[in-house]
Amino acid sequence: MFENFNVPNELTPSDPRFGCGPSLLPVEYVQSLLETGPHLLGTSHRKGPFKKIVKEIQEGLKSYFNVPEDYEVVIGNGGATFLFDMIGLGMVDKKITHYTCGEFSSKWFKSSKLIPWIEQKEINVDYGQGVVYEDHSDSDVVAVTLNETSTGVQLDSLPQVNDDQLLAVDATSGAGQVPCDVSKCDIFFFSPQKVFASEGGTFVAILSPKAIARSEKVQEQDRYIPEIMSWKLAIDNNRKHSTYNTPSISTLFFLNEQVKAMNVLGLDRVIELSREKADVLYNWAKEKDYLDLYVKDEKFRSLAVATIDVDDKYPAEDLCKRLADLKIAYGIDAYRKLGRNQFRIALFHNVKKDDLVKLTKIISLAIESN
Ligand SMILES: Cc1ncc(COP(=O)(O)O)c(C=O)c1O
Repeated sequence: MFENFNVPNELTPSDPRFGCGPSLLPVEYVQSLLETGPHLLGTSHRKGPFKKIVKEIQEGLKSYFNVPEDYEVVIGNGGATFLFDMIGLGMVDKKITHYTCGEFSSKWFKSSKLIPWIEQKEINVDYGQGVVYEDHSDSDVVAVTLNETSTGVQLDSLPQVNDDQLLAVDATSGAGQVPCDVSKCDIFFFSPQKVFASEGGTFVAILSPKAIARSEKVQEQDRYIPEIMSWKLAIDNNRKHSTYNTPSISTLFFLNEQVKAMNVLGLDRVIELSREKADVLYNWAKEKDYLDLYVKDEKFRSLAVATIDVDDKYPAEDLCKRLADLKIAYGIDAYRKLGRNQFRIALFHNVKKDDLVKLTKIISLAIESN
């Protein structure tokens, strides 16, 4: 179906990238990088120009998330998946509780599960459902996923933890626009290829003093922690505005550009803009009888990733393919392992509301003219 569908010129979006990661990286950032000429790429990550970028990111994120002065921003190679292991190995003393609600939260739990010297507990809800907290007082780390990218479910609140517990939040696809008080988190981490419009392969972790103290305590125990996963080395290097091993300079350049741009607006305004975009998609889904909201409970419906089911009469995959072939929209297909007839559309900060309006019109036109 949809092989002959064409998009009227007036509906062509200004940018075809609606995917949930890697996300829309503004072409202007690439232009700015080009303008650094021979003075950044190919220079040392232990020297001035690169360290200036790291310092700006660290200060920029602390200011954007309004975290206390003694919180530290740690950047390293490997992305959020890498941190799944790094947290299990280097932050968990005896036991971790994972709240799981989709592919990424489950993947994190599976990583912890492989570490034989810690205990793990999973508190799981079905896909499409939001997390509901239970008693996790027996654990010294509590793990939640701010925005479950596979299902478009976000947290409606943070779990309570006591002074001896760490709250670890995988904020990969929500950081920066899904509401979250980072000053209540101990390890708030993300990869920058989502809301922060950069590329993959890098992690950013915002650590509370409590998390730093815990990493020191765990490091003192007689456990094997690979050097590349040492929190001590990561923290020490970041205190010097560098990274433990050689990073992707361009990735951090793009991240810095995005942090600066988002700081001009501020977190509250960015959240407000996300809400407006979410309203566009969710109201459209409510209005059309061939569409359905996948996340039924409004309070868990994501402000960063919209998941919208489609009547089985209209194969979403065929339309996704046609729109990609036409270079109109990339990456709007459902998360592959979810296996639903669904569109999954990023509401990330750089995706324009006007373009989302156009996209809804395009999809409606394709379906209704069938
Ligand atoms: C919620 C969440 N956690 C973790 C990851 C893994 O990130 P990375 O591939 O950068 O390791 C993703 C990737 O999409 C994600 O969406």
